[in-house]
Amino acid sequence: MKGVVLAGGLGTRLYPLTYATNKHLLPVYDKPMIFYPITTLVQAGIKEIMVVTGGPHAGDFIAVLKNGRELGVKHLEYAYQEREGGIAEALSLCEDFADGGNIAVILGDNTTDADISEAVASFTSGAMVFLRPVPDPERFGVPVFDPQDPTRIIAIEEKPAQPKSRYAVTGLYLYDHRVFDIIRNIKPSARGELEITDVNNAYIAMGELRWAELGGFWSDAGTFESLFRANAYWAQKKTKRPCEDFSAYL
Ligand code: G1P
Repeated sequence: MKGVVLAGGLGTRLYPLTYATNKHLLPVYDKPMIFYPITTLVQAGIKEIMVVTGGPHAGDFIAVLKNGRELGVKHLEYAYQEREGGIAEALSLCEDFADGGNIAVILGDNTTDADISEAVASFTSGAMVFLRPVPDPERFGVPVFDPQDPTRIIAIEEKPAQPKSRYAVTGLYLYDHRVFDIIRNIKPSARGELEITDVNNAYIAMGELRWAELGGFWSDAGTFESLFRANAYWAQKKTKRPCEDFSAYL
């Protein structure tokens, strides 16, 4: 399976940090943010990766990632998204790269230490999303479960004011080649973007969306709070020192 890392956008929620570079190149403890999602794919055996970026700082990715070898990537490609058209529009740029095969998609601001290699190895067709219980589901895509069969997702709502479950749909997805036809058929949302949640809802309508709960740590890093949390987690994990240890310096 090939992999796609979506790393576009202007990162406006992180202004002024993103005035001078792309959000996905900001530090998360000792590495640029995008190293984490790339490593998640590489550890799952995915060595051919396309990074989709955009905005005024797209060129910075070459300086940081180069040809990807440092991270264990065998073949690294780049695509450029010309406007803020949404996650699904960014993904549509990968159709030729996918070449009719299945793809693993990860958002460039998601950091996790979950191992998805089994899900990747056993994936055949349809779509798969990875869920995670969170204290603030209203910030994410949120699954609605069938009251008759709580293992079945009947819809995903994007940033609902009243979440119908306590789960977030993480920014990690497996799709078969039909995802590109689905993207061609969805309409922009109220904010003028092609939403990944509408793509997932199309798979639900076809009865072909499966899900798994993501183990380990997971956080996005697209807001000050989540960026700080991701930094704190990885600092703690890599130094093998609890967060409280750092409070001695405060
Ligand atoms: C995006 C998706 C959302 C998902 C989240 C995961 O939101 O639209 O469904 O739950 O990523 O990080 P964004 O962070 O781009 O607002």
